[in-house]
Amino acid sequence: MEKIKKVAVIGGGLMGSGIAQVSAAAGFPTTVREISEPLCAKSRQSIEKTLAKGMERGKVTEAERDTTLRNLRFVTDLKELADSNLFIEAVVEDLDVKNRLWSELNQIARPDAIFASNTSSLTIIAMAAASGRSDRMLGLHFFNPVPLMKLVEVVRTITTSEDTERSALDFVRALGKEPIRAKDSSGFVVNLLLIPYMLDAINALESNVASVEDIDKGIQLGAGHPMGPFTLLDFVGLDTVYKISEIMFAEYREPRYAPPPLLKRMVLAGMLGKKSGKGFYDYSSTPPRVSSLGL
Ligand code: NAI
Repeated sequence: MEKIKKVAVIGGGLMGSGIAQVSAAAGFPTTVREISEPLCAKSRQSIEKTLAKGMERGKVTEAERDTTLRNLRFVTDLKELADSNLFIEAVVEDLDVKNRLWSELNQIARPDAIFASNTSSLTIIAMAAASGRSDRMLGLHFFNPVPLMKLVEVVRTITTSEDTERSALDFVRALGKEPIRAKDSSGFVVNLLLIPYMLDAINALESNVASVEDIDKGIQLGAGHPMGPFTLLDFVGLDTVYKISEIMFAEYREPRYAPPPLLKRMVLAGMLGKKSGKGFYDYSSTPPRVSSLGL
């Protein structure tokens, strides 16, 4: 069985930076590949900021911060990743972009290296052919924010070897995360259940069952969730939820995965949730107010 020693993370955005941080913190020499020097610098800065925040809160020691930063490298040239034995892809959610990358990586990576995608909604098997190593290809689905969220879904396809899955499970545990095993079906475990739940909340709002605040309060206090569905939607990003539900709807052809019209209208209006400053809530004031949606 291949033991993971060196890790490459491709894409240093929101997820890639988090994945690189936890990998480096666990002692793995980790190289992040971004497409330009400024994006490399941005990724490094975001990791430094997260570590500084962790230190302020007493969650990260000075020694842990130093180890993490020492184990990190940022590059633009793919060839610099050649000696890695685990490649984790966290680039944009676009199958063509991902597959172009996998076939380039297949040219430079060692034949025994494992390829893992952090995709939220694409199936892993759709990337297996481009990877040139379908037995060594799987999904490692992390959750945002990566340093805080314990779960990683380890996704095997119909062609993933047992050895590959076992190496990936060991790697996830070495990061101090909890793996769950899932089959390669769109949404894996968490999004398969969570997406219809969030869409149902939007449908309930459109049918005037209750207000945004009361639906959130109902789920928080009545079901014991840490946050209600609209707070969660704003946190995940409405564009992301829209895209995932479109992909799941195309895969399963079931109405429960279909994005409600209100979700589409909000995405078109640029109301993407917390990241754009406005979604179901308006974040320009503290505490946030419920947005006016003309319902
Ligand atoms: P993001 O947009 O923050 O980051 C993507 C990064 O990839 C960008 O910085 C971009 O410059 C870079 N990139 C694009 N092509 C590249 C290439 N060929 N080589 C190197 N870097 C390249 O996106 P985010 O949110 O980090 O998502 C990345 C992946 O993780 C997607 O597949 C997404 O579905 C998945 N994901 C996202 C979650 C989320 O909550 N945002 C949760 C779990 C998975």
